[in-house]
Amino acid sequence: MKRSEINNIITEAKKFFNKHNFILPPFGYWNLNDWKQKNKDNIDEIIDRSLGWDITDFGYNNFWETGICVFTIRNGNQENIKKGSGKTYAEKLFFLEVDQKVPSHTHYVKIEDVINRGGGLLGVELFNSKEDGTPDHSSNVILSKDGEKVEFSPGEHFYLKPGESITLVPGVYHKFWGSSEKVLVGEVSLANDDVNDNVFVEEVGRFPEIEEDEDPTHLLITDYDSFL
Ligand SMILES: [Fe+2]
Repeated sequence: MKRSEINNIITEAKKFFNKHNFILPPFGYWNLNDWKQKNKDNIDEIIDRSLGWDITDFGYNNFWETGICVFTIRNGNQENIKKGSGKTYAEKLFFLEVDQKVPSHTHYVKIEDVINRGGGLLGVELFNSKEDGTPDHSSNVILSKDGEKVEFSPGEHFYLKPGESITLVPGVYHKFWGSSEKVLVGEVSLANDDVNDNVFVEEVGRFPEIEEDEDPTHLLITDYDSFL
């Protein structure tokens, strides 16, 4: 992806989050200079736990069709999960345009609540996993939707309205897209490990290669190593 495209996407995201009165933590607005003025030792939680902007087109080169712009607000780590103490949780915010999709995937460890926080409808498609870990096209998915047990046919399309959420347990394949208008989506989950805990149905690129055609207005989580 080109840096200019990433800068534009972040501008769109900030505008949309603002419109819904969702204010990011301070590091969401830091420019390169702000980052460089920080003592790195004091911000290792941000860097090590990959907090901040995370944009990908999953390698399809068409972000507005298949892509996601996420802001990770908080995140624990895997050691805390093993210990069962400390910060074991995570929170993310993202948005999806109409018909922009996140490809079907599941997680080995992470349980996540996906929440429609406002705007349009959030389209969802789910499958259970078979024993070999691939999607099961024959069994219904039973899950908690805002505390209520609900059942969906495999691959059925359903829509979460603003305020609604579902709980996705490990092994449930999920695909999302924006429907009717741009949608603001929240995720509250077990600590997140995007390098090791994602299983996509199709092979995708999780983090993009970036062509530096202009300066970054904000850093992505994948920029921390090279810019700081
Ligand atoms: Fe997920």
